[in-house]
Amino acid sequence: LSVIQSALFLFFILQYKYRDLTVREIGNVIAQYKDLKPVTDAYVFNDGSSRELMSLNGTVPVAYRGNTYNIPVCLWLLDTYPYNPPICFVKPTSTMMIKTGKHVDANGKIYLPYLHEWKHPHSDLYGLIQVMIVVFGEEPPVFSRPAAQTPYPSYQAAGPPNGSSLP
Ligand SMILES: *[C@@H]1O[C@H](CO)[C@@H](O)[C@H](O)[C@H]1NC(C)=O
Ligand SMILES: *[C@@H]1O[C@H](CO)[C@@H](O)[C@H](O)[C@H]1NC(C)=O
Repeated sequence: LSVIQSALFLFFILQYKYRDLTVREIGNVIAQYKDLKPVTDAYVFNDGSSRELMSLNGTVPVAYRGNTYNIPVCLWLLDTYPYNPPICFVKPTSTMMIKTGKHVDANGKIYLPYLHEWKHPHSDLYGLIQVMIVVFGEEPPVFSRPAAQTPYPSYQAAGPPNGSSLP
């Protein structure tokens, strides 16, 4: 993280009631999942109000049918974290579409028993990500957007998938 990002992070963490717990968990997760980064941004609630919150943003590696796919997610942490579960979304890139199902709605919001039954200290970000990887490995939450107006359909010009493309 740059100096400015670190300073912003410190500034925003001050509003978190349980910041020691929160910082420790974020540290554990980003040490293990290098493609997730702590970011602060405005979170818009259902009632239209918004609030600067921290999130873990980036991708988690999901194994599906023998390939590993980097699934983009954003896990928002309320200022009462870890006593309330994170609010989690799948964030499809421009080449992906959300595959709605039992665990993901049309907005990309993620629903899991792990989140529903969230209870600190039995539940944590690390455990949550493990559960996501298993659940998404059974049912990927995104699929590749069909290439628009390509004269030669479905040619993989770049060769076999290298971990960044999707089924
Ligand atoms: C979140 O991560 C995605 C990549 O998965 C990136 O494109 C996006 O810019 C990130 N958002 C922020 C606010 O850092
Ligand atoms: C996969 O290949 C694409 C295009 O060559 C590249 O941009 C991307 O970084 C590669 N991803 C990985 C995980 O190697």
